[in-house]
Amino acid sequence: MLRCSCTTKTPIFLFLFLIFHFQILFYQAHSWIKAGYWFYGSEFPVSNIETSLYTHLLCAFADVNASTYELSIPSDAAASFPSFTATLKHTNPSLSTLLSIGGGTADPTVLSSMVSNASSRKSFIHSSITLARTYGFQGLDLSWVSANTTNDLKNMGLLFQEWREAAKSEAINSTNNNNQELILTAAVPYQPGSDFGSYPVESISDNLNWVNVLDYDYYTPQSTNFTGAHSALYDPSSDVNTDTGIKRWIDSGVSASKLVLSLPFYGYAWKLRNQRENGIGAAATGPAITKEGDMTYKDIKDYVQRYEATVLYNATYVVNYFSVGSNWIGFDDVNAVKTKVSYAKEKKLGGYVVWQVPYDDDKWQLSTAAAQQVVGGGEHHNWRLPVVITLTSAVCIIVLGFIIYYIRRRLVKPKGIMIAARDAGHFPDCVPDVQVFSLCDIELATDRFLIENKLGQGGYGPVYKVQNLTTAH
Ligand SMILES: *[C@@H]1O[C@H](CO)[C@@H](O)[C@H](O)[C@H]1NC(C)=O
Ligand SMILES: *[C@@H]1O[C@H](CO)[C@@H](O)[C@H](O)[C@H]1NC(C)=O
Ligand SMILES: *[C@@H]1O[C@H](CO)[C@@H](O)[C@H](O)[C@H]1NC(C)=O
Ligand SMILES: *[C@@H]1O[C@H](CO)[C@@H](O)[C@H](O)[C@H]1NC(C)=O
Ligand SMILES: *[C@@H]1O[C@H](CO)[C@@H](O)[C@H](O)[C@H]1NC(C)=O
Repeated sequence: MLRCSCTTKTPIFLFLFLIFHFQILFYQAHSWIKAGYWFYGSEFPVSNIETSLYTHLLCAFADVNASTYELSIPSDAAASFPSFTATLKHTNPSLSTLLSIGGGTADPTVLSSMVSNASSRKSFIHSSITLARTYGFQGLDLSWVSANTTNDLKNMGLLFQEWREAAKSEAINSTNNNNQELILTAAVPYQPGSDFGSYPVESISDNLNWVNVLDYDYYTPQSTNFTGAHSALYDPSSDVNTDTGIKRWIDSGVSASKLVLSLPFYGYAWKLRNQRENGIGAAATGPAITKEGDMTYKDIKDYVQRYEATVLYNATYVVNYFSVGSNWIGFDDVNAVKTKVSYAKEKKLGGYVVWQVPYDDDKWQLSTAAAQQVVGGGEHHNWRLPVVITLTSAVCIIVLGFIIYYIRRRLVKPKGIMIAARDAGHFPDCVPDVQVFSLCDIELATDRFLIENKLGQGGYGPVYKVQNLTTAH
């Protein structure tokens, strides 16, 4: 038997390894989008991005020419955009990069007139694909945040459809991209409906890989006279919150897996009217600390340290906040980020997208918290991986048991089996090639189990030397 286990060990371990490997692959099949924007205006060196924490990085933003509607690289980004993909893939070859178009500072009238005219759309689409391929981007993202008429939204749907058709035929007809179709995405508001109509949900579903849901800036110091959770996950007193928006997107027919949750790596500072009233919803008079009150996570962390501020967490809204004198700051710290990523997993969304990666602190605290929450499986899903592994391992052990049983049977069979005396009468008839002896015959052959005839004792009982034993039937 020892010799047998030596020769079968290798395939058994290989078998176990393969099963384990498939479990991991199966678990990762819902491979999650861990995306982040990098905006050239941040002046953060692309090479300093911790690429291991992301699956997709978006290079923001390419311009649309007002007369030709062709895509172009802003002059300030002439050095960084062309090398963006190569720089990032150097440290993480499995990373995908997308070129993002438009953004908050783009001229809103250009995109509006581009989508309204078939030949302009064609020019935009063609140049976007050419530019993406020229610089090795695997996808394109439209960040048109100022669309504000019914026609804009209708034409946006047309654009997505034509964009997808063009991407499809480009993948088939070009030979140098392994026929890999470009990823197409867009930034959309926190909910599909607006005062002027609904976003083109059907075209989004049919033509885009996913949408980046911009679930932030619900309240800003410039627009409200009270402190607010600008990216509240929940809000018991208002519909303006991420959970409500996501539910409306899903109700509109866009599958949850196409919705990617935004994580703002920045917060807002309000000037309090009264220092002692410093909760969420406290009276405020406008922005504090910066011109518009916006602050990167990095700067907020520095501010907390400098003033030794106590950061509070409000689980009703899912937001962190603190005040120093009459300055009140609301932002997403590690606990808010983790809760949001858990939420996105629970709702089976496609993943998350960070605005923007360079706003993280120098230890990549938020990026790490988000990425770890995906692998760690959050509180609600902690059971999944262990259960899957235990179940398949149990199945493996049973299958393995049968294999070992089978191999042993095959190896022992030619030598014949001597069945223990007390079992002899009960041995099933259907078992082939087993010699069955009666208790009488064995008693006779071993001379009534004489101790002199005992050869030794194994795990299955004593073994005796026999003489003149013949089959019992
Ligand atoms: C737009 O394209 C035209 C024609 O190629 C060019 O002359 C013009 O400078 C471009 N505009 C910008 C803002 O790049
Ligand atoms: C569409 O744009 C093209 C080129 O920019 C122009 O020649 C044409 O007149 C436009 N069509 C409409 C209907 O505006
Ligand atoms: C829509 O956006 C354009 C461009 O920003 C702006 O001029 C216009 O006033 C907006 N219209 C509405 C109804 O908000
Ligand atoms: C904000 O302004 C509105 C209208 O001026 C007023 O009704 C409201 O009470 C103010 N809120 C706070 C918190 O001061
Ligand atoms: C969060 O803030 C709101 C408004 O100030 C308050 O009513 C609520 O009790 C807070 N919840 C937690 C868990 O701190």
